[in-house]
Amino acid sequence: MGVFDDSITTFLGVIKQYIDDDTVSDVLVNGPNEVFIERAGLLQKVPAQFKDEQALQAAVRNIAQYVGRIVDDENPILDARLPDGSRVAAVLPPCSRKGTTLAIRKFQKGIPNFVDLIKVGSITKDAARFLDVCVYLGKNILVSGGTGSGKTTLLNILGTRVPSQQRLVIIEDASELKVHIDHVVYFETKSSDAMGKGEVTTRDLMRAALRLRPDRIILGEVRSEEAMDLITAMNTGHNGSMGTIHANSPFDSLVRLEVLAMIGETRVPVVAVRRQIVSAIHIVVQIQRMSDGTRKITNVSEVLPEIDDRGHYFLKSIYKFIQKGKTPEGKVVGELIPTGHIPGMIVEMEINQIPFPKDKFTPPDWYVETQKKAA
Ligand SMILES: Nc1ncnc2c1ncn2[C@@H]1O[C@H](COP(=O)(O)OP(=O)(O)O)[C@@H](O)[C@H]1O
Ligand SMILES: [Mg+2]
Repeated sequence: MGVFDDSITTFLGVIKQYIDDDTVSDVLVNGPNEVFIERAGLLQKVPAQFKDEQALQAAVRNIAQYVGRIVDDENPILDARLPDGSRVAAVLPPCSRKGTTLAIRKFQKGIPNFVDLIKVGSITKDAARFLDVCVYLGKNILVSGGTGSGKTTLLNILGTRVPSQQRLVIIEDASELKVHIDHVVYFETKSSDAMGKGEVTTRDLMRAALRLRPDRIILGEVRSEEAMDLITAMNTGHNGSMGTIHANSPFDSLVRLEVLAMIGETRVPVVAVRRQIVSAIHIVVQIQRMSDGTRKITNVSEVLPEIDDRGHYFLKSIYKFIQKGKTPEGKVVGELIPTGHIPGMIVEMEINQIPFPKDKFTPPDWYVETQKKAA
């Protein structure tokens, strides 16, 4: 079976070919006359068009019916997961002004691992190995990046590296993660019913999870006040917890975490929240979607466990991506290199006799030269 079974694909009409095409990851419809697809990381417009708005709405209604939902004037927003794991979201007019907007993100077959990421140049072997060590040693990791930058994919890989004797609880808004380890429990939020009852939020699930004796918690996406619960969990013995956050730099990710954590905590002074953040988060990994459609890890930073008098964070890059240029075809050329900063966890690495030699933190000569010139 594909994304849909045959009983409904006939209604999908013009976009069926893209839904059936394994090289297409996303199908985006902006009203009846505009269809975009994403293939190999690049978004492109395709000539497909629906006959009219009615035809498009019929397709959306069929998709909704397929998953037991209703979309109509009273329920103009659809957000659903298909049986194969793909996600469908739609908004009907008049909220959507150009006609119905529909987005299908197809479930990826074959979950990538670090080797795949190394192959496509998203990360180097050494940086991947370092992140592996971080997970092994129970460091709390925040994966930061924009929409579609590959955060969830990376989080999934990190989750898979959790040692097998540990119990992992995963909490998500829309279930995407598939972590293949021995002991894992999955929670997914639930929206309210037609009477406005029965909603279960990420925060509810975070709190429930803490009572279920997890060793580690993975929060698929930190997007609201549950940020505070994650920070608390990380600070109360759930080392090795992780989550993703929407931010454009490691520094911004901490600021965003702070803003989210403050939502439900009006009586806690911001300085207290900052102190908790710097003792909770050990490592921030920044991932970015580059102009050529590739995804690259652009930064791996250590969060120092201190703030200054003015409440500033201290972050130190351990690895960073240096872009050197572009090929005539527009491909990004660059390198993810160690900066020379040796993280505090080196002590633990040595005690645990982890085979990750210290010289792997040594930057290449050309980088040292450019740093000297800049100084
Ligand atoms: N390292 C990577 N290289 C190429 N494509 C990737 C990479 N990581 C993820 N992708 C693709 O990018 C899209 C978005 O990935 P996802 O992990 O869901 O991003 P996010 O969680 O940041 O929104 C998916 O189609 C996925 O297959
Ligand atoms: Mg995601």
